[in-house]
Amino acid sequence: MRPAARLQAAIELLDSIRGGTLPADRVIERYFRDRRYAGSKDRRAVIARVFAILRDRAPLAWRMAQGSDQPVDAVMERATGRELALIHAAVTVPADLALFGEGGAHAPDALGEDEKVLAQRAGDAALDTAPDWVRLGYPAWLDASLRRRFGAQLDTEMVALNARAPLDLRAQLGDRDLLMHELKEQGLAATATPISPWGIRLAESHPLGTVDAYRRGAVEVQDEGSQLVAALTLARPGETVIDLCAGAGGKALALASVMDDRGIILACDTDARRLAELEPRQRRADLRSIRPLVLRDGAPELDSWTARADAVLVDAPCTGMGTWRRAPDARWRLSPEMLAKSCALQAETLHRAAPLVRPGGRLVYAVCSLLPEEGEAQAEAFLAAHPDFTPSPPADRWAAAGLGGTPPDGLWAVLTPARHGTDGFFIAVFTRSR
Ligand SMILES: C[S@@+](CC[C@H](N)C(=O)[O-])C[C@H]1O[C@@H](n2cnc3c(N)ncnc32)[C@H](O)[C@@H]1O
Repeated sequence: MRPAARLQAAIELLDSIRGGTLPADRVIERYFRDRRYAGSKDRRAVIARVFAILRDRAPLAWRMAQGSDQPVDAVMERATGRELALIHAAVTVPADLALFGEGGAHAPDALGEDEKVLAQRAGDAALDTAPDWVRLGYPAWLDASLRRRFGAQLDTEMVALNARAPLDLRAQLGDRDLLMHELKEQGLAATATPISPWGIRLAESHPLGTVDAYRRGAVEVQDEGSQLVAALTLARPGETVIDLCAGAGGKALALASVMDDRGIILACDTDARRLAELEPRQRRADLRSIRPLVLRDGAPELDSWTARADAVLVDAPCTGMGTWRRAPDARWRLSPEMLAKSCALQAETLHRAAPLVRPGGRLVYAVCSLLPEEGEAQAEAFLAAHPDFTPSPPADRWAAAGLGGTPPDGLWAVLTPARHGTDGFFIAVFTRSR
């Protein structure tokens, strides 16, 4: 694809993402499935541009709103892919403005006079007077929550949440050092993650379909933060662990590994389709201890498990705010109603988990979100309603879990991209009294 065709593809994708309800990565996947002529370099270039524009959607809209009487949120709402791509080019690579109207198949149309004025005005506009939510790229309605979480670190943390994430793998079969050596021999810049003892970090995203260690199930894709959720569960061989919201089983597989595939991991979810992805992954990893269980309304299937689990993991449904590095459009699709719905589900799953824990056992609550509503508020409400549980601070578990670095202070493990280099996570561990 010529550079102008790549630009046009980015414009089309931005319009599809804006006009639909699907996450950006799904829209992108479909788009390229229908355009086999696009090579991997084309795809990478187009995706990089689309993601950069989605990340900067608020500052780009702010620049666009200068000199108009429209409020920035209204401009952001209606800005087309072409307008966003135009302003992005004017601000970051002005030479790309020449791609509009360059001619040839699939190039964007030439700029009209109004568009040239817009590009000039937007390119000259400064962000100095923009509010923080615009400058740092988050929905205005989350301002109070993010300030409560990050305080004086708001800028630093939001910059880290807007940066591109590395690709983390977990050594699933075999020794991490040997696997890293193998990956390096294939030309991949693999390093050990600093906290998880099983983590391997690739600086750049890489198509794993061609990597032998991945194809044979020796490594799994998993952010280091997710690996730490599994580690802090402190699951031991022979135990009974219930993974109440197992999804496609990322954390269940990590639990089975630390348990040496001995004991029972009951992997539950209400979504049968997601849970179905677990079986082939378990087979690929040569594990047998995971038992998938689809939950129906009210989860009657769990009645016979009352007070039997040494540990219950509640990797609860959440807004995914902590993964904004990987899904830069997700923040703009979030609404106060979605947050309220997530919080209600979190309270419900925690409440369902409590009776499953045996006396003396532990309950681990995790969300890939840094919003206090989904973190501390849930943990504190749970404790208030369940006096037989007490918090077990991360500092007490860190070394036992074999983790590197310094454990977070306080009652809960709050992991952030700026401080820990992971996705954003809130993890609480509670112990049930004997
Ligand atoms: C954060 S995801 C789990 C990710 C998974 N543990 C992993 O490591 O890949 C949350 C999961 O909770 C499931 N879920 C939603 N409501 C639930 C409920 N009431 N009971 C159990 N699971 C639920 C969703 O289907 C989703 O798969």
